Amino acid sequence: MSMQPISDVLAGKAEEGAEVTVRGWIWRTRSSGGIAFPILRDSSGVLQVTVKKGNVPDEDFEESRKALVESSVVVTGKAKKDARAPGGWELQATGFKCVSFAEPYPITKDQSEEWLRENRHLWLRSRRMIAIMKIRHTVTGAIHQFFRERGYYEFDPPILQPNQCEGGSTLFEVKYYDMKTYLSQTWQLYAEAGIFALEKIYDVAPTFRAEKSKTSRHLCEFWMAEMEAAWMGLDECAQTAKDEIRFIVQQVLEKNRPELEFLGRDISKLEASVAKPFPTITYTEALELLMKHGMDVPWGKDLRTTEEEEIMKHFDTPVVVTHYPKEIMAFYKPTDHAAKAPGPVAKCFDMLAPEGYGEIVGGSERGTDIPELNACLERDGENPANYQFYMDLRRYGSVQHSGYGVGVERVISWICGLENIKDAIAFPRTSTRITP
Ligand code: 4AD
Ligand code: MG
Repeated sequence: MSMQPISDVLAGKAEEGAEVTVRGWIWRTRSSGGIAFPILRDSSGVLQVTVKKGNVPDEDFEESRKALVESSVVVTGKAKKDARAPGGWELQATGFKCVSFAEPYPITKDQSEEWLRENRHLWLRSRRMIAIMKIRHTVTGAIHQFFRERGYYEFDPPILQPNQCEGGSTLFEVKYYDMKTYLSQTWQLYAEAGIFALEKIYDVAPTFRAEKSKTSRHLCEFWMAEMEAAWMGLDECAQTAKDEIRFIVQQVLEKNRPELEFLGRDISKLEASVAKPFPTITYTEALELLMKHGMDVPWGKDLRTTEEEEIMKHFDTPVVVTHYPKEIMAFYKPTDHAAKAPGPVAKCFDMLAPEGYGEIVGGSERGTDIPELNACLERDGENPANYQFYMDLRRYGSVQHSGYGVGVERVISWICGLENIKDAIAFPRTSTRITP
C-alpha cells in the first residue's frame, strides 16, 4: 500500500484495480443512503471518492458521512476510470479514516472578494489560489534560472535602508532603536555597489512602498526581481529585460497549462505575446501615437495609466518605452546627451505589458556624473550628504552600468489574467489591509 499524490492517480499511474492510498482534504462532499461521495484535494489535484457501506468497515463509513468540507482524511481504495468524475478517475474506497474532523467551513459559494481576503489563510486552499501560487513558483524559478544561466550572481541587499531611491513620499518609516530608518523601495543603490565586486548580479526580494493610490496594480509590499550589470548600456539592459520576460512567459506556458486553463486564461493571447520580438519606442514617439488617437499629452508629463492603456491597445506583445523626460525621472537616471527630443531625456526605459496590464519593468542606465546627481537630489529635496557612499562608487573606478526591476506580482497578474494584483501574492498588503 503506497501513498500516492492525487495527480498520479489521475495520470493513470495506479494500475487499474490496484489498491492505492491518498491523503488530503475534503473539497466537496455529499452522501445519500448507503453511499458517500467525498471529493478529495491535495496539492496536486482533486479526486472523487466513492465510499459504499459494506465495502469499508462500518466505522469508516460513518466517518465518511460525518466528515465535513476541509476535514483531513486518508483513503485507501481501487482506482477506476470514470468519465463522469473530475479528472476522469474515481477511487472506490476500501478504507476511510478521518485525521481531523473540520468545523463547518466559513467559506462557501458566492462570497464577496472582501470576505475571501479576510479569510485569506483559508482561501489559500482554493483551487484558484493554488493555481496562481503554482504559476508564481514557476515565475520566480524562471527568474533565478534566467540569470544564473547567464553568469549573474545572486546578491542580497539590506531591507532596512537609510535613504529613499524612488521618491520620499512612498517610504515606510521604521523605528530603529532611537533612530529612524526605512524599508527598502528597491535594492538599487546597494546593487550599484555590488557590481564593482561581482559585475553581474540579480535578486528577487521584498519591496515596500506606502502607495497612496488604491488601484488594482499597486501593493504596499511586493516582490521585485532586479538586475544590475557593470559595463552595460541602456540598449543591452532593455534587451536583457525583453529576454527575461519572454523566458518567464515561455516557462509558464511550458509548465502550467492546466493552471492557466483552470484560471480561464486566453492562452492563445499569451502565446502570441511572446511569438515575435518586443518593439521599442521612445517616449516622444509614444506621445505621437497618443496624439493620433486623440490624446494630447504635453511633452514633459509622465504617462498615466490611461495613456499606457491607450498605447498598449496598439500592441499584442510587451513594449519597451525609452527616453522619458529627464526632469520627471528619479535622480539616478542620467541625461542622454545624444538623444534628439524636444527636451532633455534620460537613458531609461519602462516595459508595458499588453491587455491593459501596464508597467511591468522599470530600468535605466545609472548616472556617473557627480554634479548632475547632486543637482537632481537637491531638486528632489534630498541632502546629497546622505548619499556619500553612492558617490564613492563614482569616485573609485566608475564604469557605465545599468539595471532594472521586474514587478513580480505585475507579471503574474498579466500571465494569469488577474483582475486584481492582490491575487498574485498569498497575503496581500495594501493601504487598507495588513491582516490576516
Ligand atoms: O519602476 P520602479 O519604481 O523601478 C525601480 O524601483 C528601480 N530602482 C528598479 C531598478 O532599476 N533596479 O519599480 C520597478 C517595477 C515596476 O515596473 C513595477 O512593475 C513594480 O516594480 N512596482 C510595483 N508592483 C506592485 N506594487 C507597487 N506598488 C509597485 N511599484 C512598482
Ligand atoms: Mg517605474
